[in-house]
Amino acid sequence: MLAKYSLKLPKAVYAGEEAVDNLAAILQSEKAERVVLFTDKGIEAAGLCSLVTERITKADASFSIINDIPAEPEYSAVQRIADRIGPDCPMIIALGGGSVMDTAKLVSVLSGCTVRDLLGNPRLGRKRACTIMIPTTAGTGSEATPNAIVAVPEDELKVGIVNDSMIADYVILDPVMIQSLPRHIAAATGLDALAHAIECYTSLKANPFSDTFALKALALIMGNIEKACDDISAIEEKRMMQIAAFYAGIAITSSGTTAVHALSYPLGGRFHIAHGVSNAILLSPVMRFNMPYCLDRLASAYDASFPEGERDLSREEKAEAVITRLEEIVRHLGIPRSLRDFGIKDEDIDSLASSALEVQRLLVNNARPVSLEDARSLYLGLM
Ligand SMILES: NC(=O)c1ccc[n+]([C@@H]2O[C@H](COP(=O)([O-])OP(=O)(O)OC[C@H]3O[C@@H](n4cnc5c(N)ncnc54)[C@H](O)[C@@H]3O)[C@@H](O)[C@H]2O)c1
Ligand SMILES: [Zn+2]
Repeated sequence: MLAKYSLKLPKAVYAGEEAVDNLAAILQSEKAERVVLFTDKGIEAAGLCSLVTERITKADASFSIINDIPAEPEYSAVQRIADRIGPDCPMIIALGGGSVMDTAKLVSVLSGCTVRDLLGNPRLGRKRACTIMIPTTAGTGSEATPNAIVAVPEDELKVGIVNDSMIADYVILDPVMIQSLPRHIAAATGLDALAHAIECYTSLKANPFSDTFALKALALIMGNIEKACDDISAIEEKRMMQIAAFYAGIAITSSGTTAVHALSYPLGGRFHIAHGVSNAILLSPVMRFNMPYCLDRLASAYDASFPEGERDLSREEKAEAVITRLEEIVRHLGIPRSLRDFGIKDEDIDSLASSALEVQRLLVNNARPVSLEDARSLYLGLM
């Protein structure tokens, strides 16, 4: 465990029923006269935008809407949006999943630099806009993190840009935003949060701050994810998933994800597998690979996640029970088990493994060192 660690958080977080009602007061306290609302077509079609625009109008602010943010955007798409908005952009509201929030966070720090510049040196970003994150998936936890992920097609990879100035000023977690999330999106995004929680808890960067949030997120997700995805009326379970995804995001901020996310990035960058789905496929194989190096951690993850479970078990049995539960959840939620289902062929494995090894930002956090050969065998095991 780290000897030095920190926790950086948004200025204020509003959660629970009708939390979106706080928006007008936030805008008034920030003396916002003009707002740019970032969203996408799926969220617009789900009828969520008016919940936000009504509150902007109530605060006597004017607004414009960017409604065409692509899912899992390439860095050049984010740049085009920033160019359309221009230099004068004092207040940004992001209403959406990770794709919308990451785009908004990047645009909020593009002051005298481009997204491409940030890929080379994330520290160049300087805050130029106040940001309010309203997540509509549960989720990436992007509302809590200083990270934004963009696809870099020329490298066939997704790349994380990290800059503390991208931590949101305000977060609104209103369950109405995730109530009618389609099942396949709820499943993929919920599994992403599950990966965040268990990766951060077993990360070499784990610390008392991140442990608190990662373990709580893990227990909440293990107990609620299936019902939250299966049952449209399971409001309480959905609410728990929203809180858990936020906690898992805080855990990322203080600790960090590991080899699941590192091996997932080339699958997203080259084969366009949705972020949550690629993590879900890798989740139990990577945890099984890591198991001998983080037995104590997996055993305490068992104790936290299954308070009513059998106590009289060895560390190995507890770790095995956690991994078996991960497999059960991934299977239940209908995630494909083979990379072949996404058009990946045996001859792609070598280059996928080389690309994954480039994600040292995350691999250095993994409890077990990952060699090129290890990455190859992990991918091959999924063929
Ligand atoms: N910044 C971070 O810390 C962080 C962490 C993990 C992942 N990410 C990134 O986030 C992106 C993925 O975000 P995501 O998984 O939230 O999905 P997303 O934002 O890409 O959205 C996926 C789809 O769901 C739709 N959708 C979202 N909310 C909806 C709702 N309430 N009702 C109906 N449709 C809805 C969207 O329109 C979109 O078509 C990836 O690029 C990933 O790399 C970022
Ligand atoms: Zn993720």
